[in-house]
Amino acid sequence: MDKIVIQGGARLSGEVAVSGSKNAALPIMMASVLTPEPVIIRNLPRLRDITTALTLLNHLGVEHRWIDDHALELCAARIKSHEAPYDLVKTMRASFFVLGPLLARTGRARVSTPGGCAIGARPVNLHIRGIRSLGARIQLRHGYVEAHAERLVGTRIWMDNPSVGATENVIMAAALARGRTALENAAREPEVQDLARMLNAMGARISGAGNHVIEIEGVERLHGADHTVINDRIEAGTLMVAAAITGGDVVIRGACAGELEATIAKLRESGVEVASAAGGLRVRRHNIIRPIELRTLPYPGFPTDLQAQMMALLANAEGTSVITETIFENRFMHALELLRMGADIAMKGPTAVVRGVPRLSGAPVMATDLRASSSLVLAGLAAENTTEVQRVYHLDRGYEALDSKLRALGARIERVPDRGAS
Ligand code: EPZ
Repeated sequence: MDKIVIQGGARLSGEVAVSGSKNAALPIMMASVLTPEPVIIRNLPRLRDITTALTLLNHLGVEHRWIDDHALELCAARIKSHEAPYDLVKTMRASFFVLGPLLARTGRARVSTPGGCAIGARPVNLHIRGIRSLGARIQLRHGYVEAHAERLVGTRIWMDNPSVGATENVIMAAALARGRTALENAAREPEVQDLARMLNAMGARISGAGNHVIEIEGVERLHGADHTVINDRIEAGTLMVAAAITGGDVVIRGACAGELEATIAKLRESGVEVASAAGGLRVRRHNIIRPIELRTLPYPGFPTDLQAQMMALLANAEGTSVITETIFENRFMHALELLRMGADIAMKGPTAVVRGVPRLSGAPVMATDLRASSSLVLAGLAAENTTEVQRVYHLDRGYEALDSKLRALGARIERVPDRGAS
């Protein structure tokens, strides 16, 4: 296993390009199961989670061919298995998103439930309830969801909370259902909108993605399509914080201001300059980091997936910030590692009070999940001396070459084998 070693204090400058979105790409890959015809997916980031999704699809009988480094052709001409096994679902929760498409295409699916997670309980009740509302017979047996349906039937579904994954699972299932589905209190995230665009390119009839109500007029069959995945707004936000935390000046190509409004607003409030630049955003900081209040919310609110990175920034502010995490109940694990770097953070329930310190001090730290890892890398960029971030595999699940991108901007960062890792 590798670790990342950072000598803090280098000011980042230059230009960097954002990769394709992991969280858009994963459900879009699962959507390939809905048609026997080939689909082409472009702007795919090369990540561990994408490889895991491909392993699952191959297990189901989906064939693949890389067209180039970031373009993949998937063809589900023949489905050979109806099962998403525990080993794959426990490695990556998004494997559960295959339930809807597999059931809609073949009439049956057996998908392992994902179990616990480092950031919260993350149940799948809303996925199951939504798909059951479409007429599926669902049983929970031996850790698996077993679903059957001759043909799903459109209906009206109210989601208790706007779950991204449940919205995606239900719209994929409803795309092939008989009749019209109205999904109310749906998630509005750009990744949901991208999936709907892909499904519509395959012949689905989905309207309202991006709004609270998504309507799906079921069709008899779907066909092949050629789709380019949106850029990763969370990677873009992470790079914006990297520029800010180092007092740098960076142009982030491919960052979409419209998808990052809450993040841009909060960065500006904390004293960071964000301006549009050709093909992206320019992020600069000359002044002190000002303390702010921050609350994570479903889109278009401030994303939970950028909370850890903002905490690293605010740990360096002049004053006291308050962060409230409303999406996941256990998403402050990075704070415990930031404390080891000299941060002053007190946590109570969903709230973290972050008192800025003049300078973090480098330390060996260990991440428990993807965004926690990136927050520790960001903290290391600003800290004095050396920070070693262990368990880099978390970072590799969701960031394409983050260390190389930061190095190209002037960070003193390298990846080395972690001989002490167990
Ligand atoms: C997606 O997870 C993302 N993952 C997460 O990205 C992201 O943090 C999250 O959305 C929120 O934006 C992918 O897209 C692959 P949810 P998802 O269902 O769909 C509760 C990252 O770092 N809930 O919107 O699993 C749940 O417990 C990650 O890239 C239920 O109660 O998130 C949570 O509190 C991690 N029942 C809230 O809803 C359910 O059936 C939102 O979760 C489903 C969810």
